Amino acid sequence: MGNRRGIILAGGTGSRLYPLTAGVSKQLMPVYDKPMIYYPLSTLMLAGIREVLVITTPEQQEGFMRLLGDGSRLGMEIQWGVQPRPEGLAQAFLIGERFIDGSCCALILGDNIFYGAQLRHRLRATSERPTGATVFAYPVSNPGDYGVVELDEQGNALGIEEKPANPRSELAVTGLYFYDTDVVEIARSVRPSDRGELEITSVNEAYLEAGKLTVEMLGRGSAWLDTGSFETLQQAGSFVQAIQQRQGLAIACPEEIAWRQGWISAEDLARIGGELPDNSYGEYLLRLLGSK
Ligand code: DAU
Repeated sequence: MGNRRGIILAGGTGSRLYPLTAGVSKQLMPVYDKPMIYYPLSTLMLAGIREVLVITTPEQQEGFMRLLGDGSRLGMEIQWGVQPRPEGLAQAFLIGERFIDGSCCALILGDNIFYGAQLRHRLRATSERPTGATVFAYPVSNPGDYGVVELDEQGNALGIEEKPANPRSELAVTGLYFYDTDVVEIARSVRPSDRGELEITSVNEAYLEAGKLTVEMLGRGSAWLDTGSFETLQQAGSFVQAIQQRQGLAIACPEEIAWRQGWISAEDLARIGGELPDNSYGEYLLRLLGSK
């Protein structure tokens, strides 16, 4: 299967967050002390994924490139793709076909934030699964706003629906998906839904019908945070602030993760930290060096 490759889908119009998004892409906006895209990037990194394609709108690509470059600073390889219009999440695999190049892949939405005990371990284990698809289910109070999965008592998926009017469970399907090498072909066969989008739920349904969909539960001990409205964006920032201040440890610091994974050296980390004098992010990186 080769190394699993990762895609961050960071397009869309951000219309629900206008006027915040009039000049800046949603996924570049702050979640407390970091740009939003650091969180999904960190999630892929924790899964051990080192080759990443970032898909943005053509207009916003420059800002993302200024932030992340070619990834070499993190010991990674970051490539770039564009999605001119938000025609659906499954389009990521068509845009990313050459990048995926016959490997297994993972897709994460650029506005999805994951946090919790054992997350790294679980992501790694999922990433090492060579066949089928894996999605994550998370209990929410408003399932009708998401893809919803219904499970049997053994945790096998019975059905999956996009934004159902009458949800059959409270389990939302999160915006993190792991697929085997069939995904590009499956995405190619998906037809636009009533709302005119190539739905990721259609891809997941195809895996379900083939008996190849695994659903991992993210339980009450973990956080999957929404950033879709002014209120939930603010709540996500407060969550990150509360945990970080309590522990003195950062959530989703890509430089830290790269260093802990051995993708960059202590000297690299010291150099990056040193480039940020009088800045708490830089101080944090330097402080880490005394703590490993
Ligand atoms: O967040 C998880 C949910 O994401 C899943 O439960 C749903 O099954 C899935 O369809 C999706 O639902 P949303 O309606 O919340 O997706 P939304 O259209 O808001 O897009 C999610 C993010 O992806 C958003 O930041 C914009 C970006 N996006 C969206 C589309 C449709 C793109 O970059 N390109 C697109 O074509």
